[in-house]
Amino acid sequence: GKVAVLMGGKSAEREVSLMSGAGVLKALQSRGVDAHAFDPAERELVELKRKGFQRCFIALHGRFGEDGTVQGALELLGIPYTGSGVMASAISIDKVMTKRVWMAEGIPTPQYRLLRRGAYQREEVAKLPDELGLPLIVKPAREGSSIGVAKVQSASDIQAAVDAAAALDADVLCEQFVSGDEVTCPILGTGADARALPVIRIVAPEGNYDYQNKYFTDDTKYLVPCGLPEGEEAAIQELVVKAYRVLGCRGWGRIDVMIDGKTRKPSLLEINTSPGMTGHSLVPMSARASGISYEDLCLQLLLSAAL
Ligand code: DAL
Ligand code: MG
Repeated sequence: GKVAVLMGGKSAEREVSLMSGAGVLKALQSRGVDAHAFDPAERELVELKRKGFQRCFIALHGRFGEDGTVQGALELLGIPYTGSGVMASAISIDKVMTKRVWMAEGIPTPQYRLLRRGAYQREEVAKLPDELGLPLIVKPAREGSSIGVAKVQSASDIQAAVDAAAALDADVLCEQFVSGDEVTCPILGTGADARALPVIRIVAPEGNYDYQNKYFTDDTKYLVPCGLPEGEEAAIQELVVKAYRVLGCRGWGRIDVMIDGKTRKPSLLEINTSPGMTGHSLVPMSARASGISYEDLCLQLLLSAAL
């Protein structure tokens, strides 16, 4: 039947989604799937029903796509879709809610404070260096691709970073910085069948894996095999599968992790329930390292579409 690749959308990651969607569309078509691009920013989702689409591959990132809203609409329309359902998507888009679930389940994640736009005291900002140390990380709670993320080196710069993040989301996450190795690990499957793909180690210029270094420069190095000390990769894989399961995720995801350079302890930063599928993206890279081509990955995900 007809398949819609949902791409574009109206989040700050629109451009990234268009790149992901273009890759997925081409891959599915190359395998004989009757796949069509569909941009929810330009058309009503209800058209999917009218035009007879039978499945959706969600290649949207960020809000109105990765956050449970589109998933909820597809549930109502009765059209199976790739990836997590409504609740897991809604929790996972929110880095603070994700941390709360992980902390309750004993999964390590950096210490944090939540500042809600217009609802915090200046003293709370003044206390952050004591509570979280410096440098610290400031992020909008519900963005992706490092948009609005700042690594703050000095106390006098915190407020400006908080204001910048608050322009993108009412909820601002201030997080302890973990110095060490930056890695990411994709997960495929659902529930008891969920399994981790190879861990990728990311070595960005000056440790700065930002929007530019994610998608547009070739200065970031991606190591797969990751070259971590014996046992560390397996421990991370085990941890991310647990972290994925406790959120109730489905189909696929990718969890970003920092490993403390001194203690070698992993801390989970966040989960992406609709990971990038661009030419620079990490799930396809890790899949390839385990013998799954980009095309096979797309097809496998499409077949896992559910309601
Ligand atoms: N948010 C981007 C698309 C990613 O995690 O891959
Ligand atoms: Mg993300």
